Amino acid sequence: MVWDYYNGKVLFVTGGSGFIGTALLWRLLSQSSPERVYVLCRGGYAKAEEKWSSMLPPSTAKILTDSQLLTVLDGELGNTATMDLPEETLQMLKGTVHIVIHAACSVQLQNSLRELSYSVMAPSLCLTKYALKFPNLERFVFFSTAYANAHLWQTSKSSDVRVDERIYPLSTESEDYYQSALDSWRAVQSTGSSDEYDAHDFPWPYAYAKHLTERLVLQQVSERNKLDKVLIIRPSVIGPADKLPYPGYATSQGTPSTACAAAYMLHPGRQITLASRCEKPGQEATIDEVPVDVVVDRVLVHVAMGTSGLVHAVSGEQSRLSVDEWWHAFKKERRIPWNAKLAWTAGDWHSPNLHQMARRFKIIGTSFAFSEQKTVQVAEKLQGQKGNLMLFADRSLPYSLHLRRHHIHHMAIQHAKSNKWPACYAKVFCRKGKSLAQLDKQVKA
Ligand SMILES: NC(=O)c1ccc[n+]([C@@H]2O[C@H](COP(=O)([O-])OP(=O)(O)OC[C@H]3O[C@@H](n4cnc5c(N)ncnc54)[C@H](OP(=O)(O)O)[C@@H]3O)[C@@H](O)[C@H]2O)c1
Repeated sequence: MVWDYYNGKVLFVTGGSGFIGTALLWRLLSQSSPERVYVLCRGGYAKAEEKWSSMLPPSTAKILTDSQLLTVLDGELGNTATMDLPEETLQMLKGTVHIVIHAACSVQLQNSLRELSYSVMAPSLCLTKYALKFPNLERFVFFSTAYANAHLWQTSKSSDVRVDERIYPLSTESEDYYQSALDSWRAVQSTGSSDEYDAHDFPWPYAYAKHLTERLVLQQVSERNKLDKVLIIRPSVIGPADKLPYPGYATSQGTPSTACAAAYMLHPGRQITLASRCEKPGQEATIDEVPVDVVVDRVLVHVAMGTSGLVHAVSGEQSRLSVDEWWHAFKKERRIPWNAKLAWTAGDWHSPNLHQMARRFKIIGTSFAFSEQKTVQVAEKLQGQKGNLMLFADRSLPYSLHLRRHHIHHMAIQHAKSNKWPACYAKVFCRKGKSLAQLDKQVKA
């Protein structure tokens, strides 16, 4: 069974105090008994505890804060493999770890490629090289994004672009994408860009940074004949948990469509301008939002089942939303009825005329059909043993934003502040959600 795989294993997890990492550790420690889980966190245990306690109600946070199996290491990823850890800790990790889960990342869509080379690419590459030296290494997991291939929207004419669980080379299909990754990495380090980046229209430098890092990670593992050990997870737009650690679990920053809802909530005009090339954008443009607990279960199941290569953690064709469905749910959340409409233009995703959220997220108005073939296959293998695993998003109930009211409210305050509007706008327009203390009572009940 899936959870048995983790019993007695030693794991090293980065980003374990972040949105996904916290949910992942909670699920792992609720279901299995690893020998030890080392969690890298800048600021050490005090910072990790503070973050867990800010995201989870006390009774839920206990699984992490009271765990005897978890050790927080005070360190930071950078452009060397030392992570600011003492040499003896590095040797201990090297000698004991079976599974590395690398979820730490600076999720700054707009940062320049040069900045991302320091905050995303170099740290991931250093960690990969270090982990590949572990004699007991069974699995290495790297978190990428499904939008690493979002440039395909601009090269395709389709209004629904299919993306498979594979690498899409950036020159020709037959290019040696390991070699091109090394060449491009050298170029990014010396000039802050690369020919292949300049030749494609990625929505954000971050998407290309993940595309290049995927190839660099694969190049490293292939050079050492360890391709079977690497798993690259590509989540789409992550949304609040359907069920675990509790329904609605989220962070304000971690769920992009919450930020959109907050900004639309305070929009002063009657029109929100978005771009799409779809003929009927409301129905044809889609949002692939996947609950964080589905992402976590996909990671833990694929690791346990030995899947290697690229895996999408998405809602997929079955469960993604049309923009109209999302808009319908959004309108129910505004306290004061309001007749704002979505105004679609045929312009492109960089157009300065779009609403600021569309300019920031770019992919609003697109549609991607992300394949989930590898998870379908794993689910078939697990027939009868699926238990409470959440491998697919459940859309049996109408889509709703009500579980994230608290975060919409919080983001609306931030949005008001950044626009120099009174913070009370948030109170006027947004419904009030449940605080962690209220949730705690609910969890205990
Ligand atoms: N959220 C999404 O919608 C989404 C979608 C697709 C893919 N992803 C990917 O999923 C992964 C996890 O995302 P998330 O939403 O959980 O992000 P998150 O909430 O921002 O968490 C990121 C974590 O990484 C840590 N971190 C960042 N840089 C670090 C460094 N140099 N050294 C050590 N720790 C560092 C942060 O620690 P501090 O607290 O110290 O900053 C934080 O704990 C990322 O790789 C992200 O690209 C996320």
